[in-house]
Amino acid sequence: MNVLLVGGGGREHALAWRLAQSPGLMRLFAAPGNPGIATHAECVALDIADHGAVLDFCRSRDVALVVIGPEAPLVAGLADDLREGGVAVFGPSAAAARLEGSKGFTKDLCARVHIPTAAYRRLASLADALAALDGFGLPVVVKADGLAAGKGVTVAATRGEAVDALSALFQVPGAEAVLERFLSGREASLFVLCDGADIAAFGSAEDHKRVGEGDTGPNTGGMGAFSPSVALTPDLEEQAMARIVRPTVAALAQDGTPFVGVLYAGLMLTDEGPQLIEYNVRFGDPECQALMMRFEGDLLTLLLAVAQGRLADAPHPRFARGAALGVVVAARGYPDAPVAGGAIGGIAAAEATGARVFHAGTRADDGDGDGGRLVASGGRVLTVTAAADTLADARALAYRAVDRIDYPDGFHRRDIGARG
Ligand code: AMP
Ligand code: GLY
Repeated sequence: MNVLLVGGGGREHALAWRLAQSPGLMRLFAAPGNPGIATHAECVALDIADHGAVLDFCRSRDVALVVIGPEAPLVAGLADDLREGGVAVFGPSAAAARLEGSKGFTKDLCARVHIPTAAYRRLASLADALAALDGFGLPVVVKADGLAAGKGVTVAATRGEAVDALSALFQVPGAEAVLERFLSGREASLFVLCDGADIAAFGSAEDHKRVGEGDTGPNTGGMGAFSPSVALTPDLEEQAMARIVRPTVAALAQDGTPFVGVLYAGLMLTDEGPQLIEYNVRFGDPECQALMMRFEGDLLTLLLAVAQGRLADAPHPRFARGAALGVVVAARGYPDAPVAGGAIGGIAAAEATGARVFHAGTRADDGDGDGGRLVASGGRVLTVTAAADTLADARALAYRAVDRIDYPDGFHRRDIGARG
């Protein structure tokens, strides 16, 4: 079977690597892909926003399954248009992707079916938001309603910070805000495959969102992750499935907008049990890289079963015991102003340790004609990932590999997995 993978980050490199191992795969295309993905797939320049062009490509290349990595095309309805054209898709419809695309939508759904989550208000103007602030204690959490690539959330310790965040948020025409009560506890991420009706747990992880060591500095897309989560015990995972994930999936199905793909529940493990912080409608990046290091089995068969509503007949997802851990190597200046163009070496030496180096923001630079130079072209550049019998060993292996990367313009955190 021919497959099209949409995306070009570390998450998609990890998916491409596993898809390429599936016996049922004939040709794998990736749009846009990256130099790492290109070792497993044919990278194609397709305008992902042009759904008709993507459908034409699928028809002309006999693509039977499209796997959509990032959230933006899902929120924009790419899965709907491909399905309407007769192509199976791993990824939710625009209506179901509102779980990530609109924080207000998700909070209203949680309220309707009694899912444990922080108390909230949806606000459509700065004046209303400022008036509502007094009903919340401190710290208070200020969120922009729509997609914000990890930058839409402010945990405000003072009223002044909350006012600043709200003022900035409402500068954007048409903006909506969600105010939330602050939850305290440890965070964990739970991944669940869903074919619209049936679900299957697909592992857990913990990530490190802040740019600096000791979880300091601005939020990023994620500087590293490990799987499984240490904090999400089997008992807490079962609570999260029963009280959060199952009611969500059931509500979407009942509303006529079933969820098809992977649901990523960001959880706060509080004294009162797991509470939902947010949903994402795709794999996490870099969580996916750690998950794929542990995944055992045929990924293509599983994702196709999800896309075709046959999850109940598919073999139950299996993961290796032990742990996997990924360290993101980012370009200096990330997340605000990453420097582009820095030369990257040492990948083969890093992989010689047994680790895997997933590409994200990399580009083959053949400006001088030799075609062999790899340079940085984005904020997060590589995810150096290792698996072992214990988290401590996976961590040691990953850092041994990171130390072989030769990328003077890059940086990484040294404490990924330290809280494990
Ligand atoms: P989100 O984009 O919604 O995942 O938020 C980003 C980060 O903000 C989360 O990973 C949490 O660390 C933090 N956060 C979001 N909502 C809350 C909340 N209600 N209480 C405490 N922390 C939160
Ligand atoms: N690493 C967080 C995310 O993918 O949203």
